Amino acid sequence: MSHKIAPSILSADFLNLQRDIEMLNESEADWIHCDVMDGTFVPNISFGFPIIKQVSKIAKKPLDVHLMIVQPEKYINEVRDAGAYLMNVHLEASPHLHRTISAIHDAGMKAGVTLNPHTPVSLLEDIIQDVDLVLIMSVNPGFGGQKFIERSLEKVKMLKRMITERNLSTLIEVDGGINLQTCKQMVDAGADVLVAGNAVFSDADPKGMIHKLKSIE
Ligand code: DX5
Ligand code: ZN
Repeated sequence: MSHKIAPSILSADFLNLQRDIEMLNESEADWIHCDVMDGTFVPNISFGFPIIKQVSKIAKKPLDVHLMIVQPEKYINEVRDAGAYLMNVHLEASPHLHRTISAIHDAGMKAGVTLNPHTPVSLLEDIIQDVDLVLIMSVNPGFGGQKFIERSLEKVKMLKRMITERNLSTLIEVDGGINLQTCKQMVDAGADVLVAGNAVFSDADPKGMIHKLKSIE
């Protein structure tokens, strides 16, 4: 299976969001990544459920919602009602992760667990079998356009080993600092889904950049 590309609309032009979503609809993007920030879990505030709901009305690709918020379990129904396909919660923000993952599934969504750069992959040992996807942060969450943290390559390789050894079909997603070079490195390491914000939206030809990211072998 070839890897998926999930452009992050954090770097889209919010004054022309409809135009940018239509561009993604016409592109080879597989998912649309929506970054929700609360100013508490991360030092920035982005957008919330009303915006995602509007996006879902015109988006022709599944919405991958990345919640960088405390107490994500409080908003499962809101995320579902906003049109999410997949709900990503941070392990660091979820003391009762097993319960939260079950509730996300009960609400009819795919469930993802996200790890900050300092959180070891080994903490997934007793939850990996219950999640559809693991999102490895390759920057400290909060902002687009940051520098890729090299150590995350090793984490993806370790996670891939864990998934293969247990004969699971869990997807590995990577988020932060993805460009043509780091995308290739991550695909080689075993990543299945690559989020790209700045690389796509700061390019003069975003659709062309998505094509290039998608064509990496
Ligand atoms: C960071 C967000 C990312 C961000 C990625 O907190 O979770 O999804 O948009 O941005 P780039 O690709 O610009 O590093
Ligand atoms: Zn994200």
